[in-house]
Amino acid sequence: MIRINIIGAGRLGKTLAALARRSGRYRVQDVMTRGADSAAAACAFIGMGRAVTEWADVSAADLYLLAVPDAAIADCAQRLAAAGVPAGAVVFHASGVSGSELLRPAAARGAHIGSLHPAFSFADPAVALENFSDVLCALEGDAEACAALRELAQAIGGRPFELADGGKPAYHAALSVASNYLVTLTAIARHLAGQGGVPEELITPLLGGLMRQTLENALALGPQAALTGPIARGDASTVALHLQVLDDEGLRAVYQALGRQTAALAGERLSEPARRQVLSALGAAEDSGPVQSLAG
Ligand SMILES: NC(=O)c1ccc[n+]([C@@H]2O[C@H](COP(=O)([O-])OP(=O)(O)OC[C@H]3O[C@@H](n4cnc5c(N)ncnc54)[C@H](OP(=O)(O)O)[C@@H]3O)[C@@H](O)[C@H]2O)c1
Repeated sequence: MIRINIIGAGRLGKTLAALARRSGRYRVQDVMTRGADSAAAACAFIGMGRAVTEWADVSAADLYLLAVPDAAIADCAQRLAAAGVPAGAVVFHASGVSGSELLRPAAARGAHIGSLHPAFSFADPAVALENFSDVLCALEGDAEACAALRELAQAIGGRPFELADGGKPAYHAALSVASNYLVTLTAIARHLAGQGGVPEELITPLLGGLMRQTLENALALGPQAALTGPIARGDASTVALHLQVLDDEGLRAVYQALGRQTAALAGERLSEPARRQVLSALGAAEDSGPVQSLAG
């Protein structure tokens, strides 16, 4: 049995611990929080483990999960290293944006360090426990940590994959753009539909059908093939009309920035003169800086 200690047993910590116990391959050993009540409640949820509140009482294990809030990870790694962590043990956290660099104090004591980020919401641990299946889990860290975390992810029903060294912030930015900015774009589109006089009760069906179809196309065909609309057609006069009705500075800036990216995405579908006309309608001077080609 692989021994795992859980430092921080909130929504994610206690759910991963319960899944590890259920797999039959892990023994959940110490469950540490700052409050005795929360540690005891977490042990009850997990169905295994010893409630601990002091670093000095944390016993030796094969794996240590630091499932504390992101801002507390570095401090907890420091405290764990000071309390003692066996050489060869694996210390990991579950933050989406930071990498194993937060755990360097443990590495200095001979531990292997890594991170395992499940792309999943643990808002309600009881629900998460029942629904955690085939969840993509991003791994990074040293080779030994990644091997141990791959085994853990598979045992709990996850689908592990490895990130590039230092890839965590870009990985997390990808998730934020895909989910948060999609919501922001929905809000902007709703605002413009309302400005144009679309009846309130028709805004959701009007935009929803188009947005679902477009997302399906972008995912199935790839972004470049899925691109339609005035910019992909080189229709500069339509772009100019759009900008005339955007009276808010912030919305204009968003439209212009996304328009430039969209022109770059259209790539060879736009002739050079059409590309110049579209960029000019977008108010983007030739010297307004390079745009990343997203066409690949
Ligand atoms: N929740 C999600 O859906 C989700 C998804 C993916 C990744 N994550 C990641 O998982 C990690 C944990 O997030 P969470 O949502 O599970 O947090 P959470 O529900 O707020 O739980 C945090 C836990 O850490 C304990 N804790 C806080 N500070 C501590 C400290 N200094 N020493 C020891 N224990 C401490 C808390 O208990 P006490 O207050 O009693 O000490 C609590 O048990 C974060 O890195 C987060 O980014 C979360």
